[in-house]
Amino acid sequence: MKIMIIDGKKVSKEIVEEYKEKFNKLNKEVNFAIIWIGEDNASEIYVKNKIKKCEYVGIKTKLYHLEETISEEEVLELIDELNKDSKVHGILLQSPVPQHIDIIKCFNKIDYKKDIDGFSNKSVGNLYLGRPFHISCTPKGIVRLLDYYQIDLNGLNVCIINRSNIVGKPLFHLLLERNATITMCHSKTKNLKEHTKMADIVISAVGKPKFITADMIKDKAIVIDVGISRIAGKVVGDVDFENVSKKASYITPVPGGVGPMTIAMILENIYNAVKEEI
Ligand code: GUN
Repeated sequence: MKIMIIDGKKVSKEIVEEYKEKFNKLNKEVNFAIIWIGEDNASEIYVKNKIKKCEYVGIKTKLYHLEETISEEEVLELIDELNKDSKVHGILLQSPVPQHIDIIKCFNKIDYKKDIDGFSNKSVGNLYLGRPFHISCTPKGIVRLLDYYQIDLNGLNVCIINRSNIVGKPLFHLLLERNATITMCHSKTKNLKEHTKMADIVISAVGKPKFITADMIKDKAIVIDVGISRIAGKVVGDVDFENVSKKASYITPVPGGVGPMTIAMILENIYNAVKEEI
């Protein structure tokens, strides 16, 4: 069977180039603030990549790398300052944060228009109501990829394995808007395979290598891998790619699938934030 590899690297490159041109045409200084608390290794890579891509398209980034011991109050004060600074167009608080900080409270402090991640209560609420402004970048990137490959979601059975605020929950709302029938699975789901087997699209964001095996998907299913793990320094996803790709109709690789789309969507959200202001 002919398998289509969903090439997130290629699609994201096209989007990045599109936004490089758009930011250039704006002829305006655009500033993006990234707050990173502590020393999480994965966050360091994500933050560096975000800065690199932003700088590439002409966005000025400022990284606030804060000590692990910083208080919640100090973080909220910083967000407040950035909210008030009219030169700052976007603010992103990298997750995770240390346990003593209430991340939802911090996300919610970010001005709605500057909330590039779409994690504030208002952003989430408007997504729930079908009137989003900024949409969480990974779910948005997944839907953009499906659109690029002209996969019509209308009436399809989609099985999401993840219920986080960053991926699973926003993705649920985006897919529902597209008339998909969605099953939300998670760590307490019984007989996971029964759910994945029924699905036209399986979207996995678990973080366990080879978690999705070929016997778990139906013939010609579309498989979207959002997992990121490391085996002997190599980045791998949740899906047993070698075997699942023999059965699927479309599949995303890791790396080079969903990952690059997240950053492309950050650029899009920053651009929308600037346009909203103009
Ligand atoms: N950590 C992992 N993914 C994300 C994301 O999309 N946004 C933020 N802020 N933190 C993350």
